[in-house]
Amino acid sequence: MKKDLGVMPAVFPMPVLLIAAYDEEGTINVMNAAWGMPNANNKIALFIDKHHKTTRNILAVKAFTVALADEGHMAEADYYGMVSGDKVPDKFERSGLHSEESRFVHAPVIREFPVSIECELAEVIDTANMFAVVGKIVNASADEELIGEDGKVDASRIHALIFDQFHFDYYRVGERVGKAFSEGKSFLS
Ligand SMILES: Cc1cc2nc3c(=O)[nH]c(=O)nc-3n(C[C@H](O)[C@H](O)[C@H](O)COP(=O)(O)O)c2cc1C
Repeated sequence: MKKDLGVMPAVFPMPVLLIAAYDEEGTINVMNAAWGMPNANNKIALFIDKHHKTTRNILAVKAFTVALADEGHMAEADYYGMVSGDKVPDKFERSGLHSEESRFVHAPVIREFPVSIECELAEVIDTANMFAVVGKIVNASADEELIGEDGKVDASRIHALIFDQFHFDYYRVGERVGKAFSEGKSFLS
């Protein structure tokens, strides 16, 4: 028997994404976002509050990066979600992490996070039920040591964080248990 939870976004796991953008003066700001997802092979949608400093930066500068948080940088990732760049303009500097400008867009790539997606602002969706920033992915990069012999990112080496919105906890990604588009083959006639 199921127990009702009421109105809540009962989806697990959620990613831990770090959205980074420059302001018009070139100062970096970063925020933590769980509500974000690729919506095409070359697009990513971020469901971020339109009033956040990061959002305003993205709208002004029209570029941003999205990084995957790993266990080794959990404190920094969490901090980016705890304070606003409006109150702490040197939020990124205070975190002690480092960045370099993307070679593809005018947006900062944070060196310490294992995987980054570099985006041009493609569209802003602002309706009664949704505010979303959609990025056109112009490049993705990953730390060399994460690349396996097949030339692809070995997800098990990322030690990616997962966000649990039931308890507001972070988890580490667990072990690989199967192969997509393959485990279901037993049901094919
Ligand atoms: C785990 C976690 C997940 C979050 N997910 C989102 C999100 O999906 N969308 C959003 O607008 N804010 C989200 N936030 C809140 C922002 O990161 C937070 O308000 C941040 O201070 C905004 O920073 P800024 O004003 O410097 O841009 C999240 C915070 C945490 C800690």
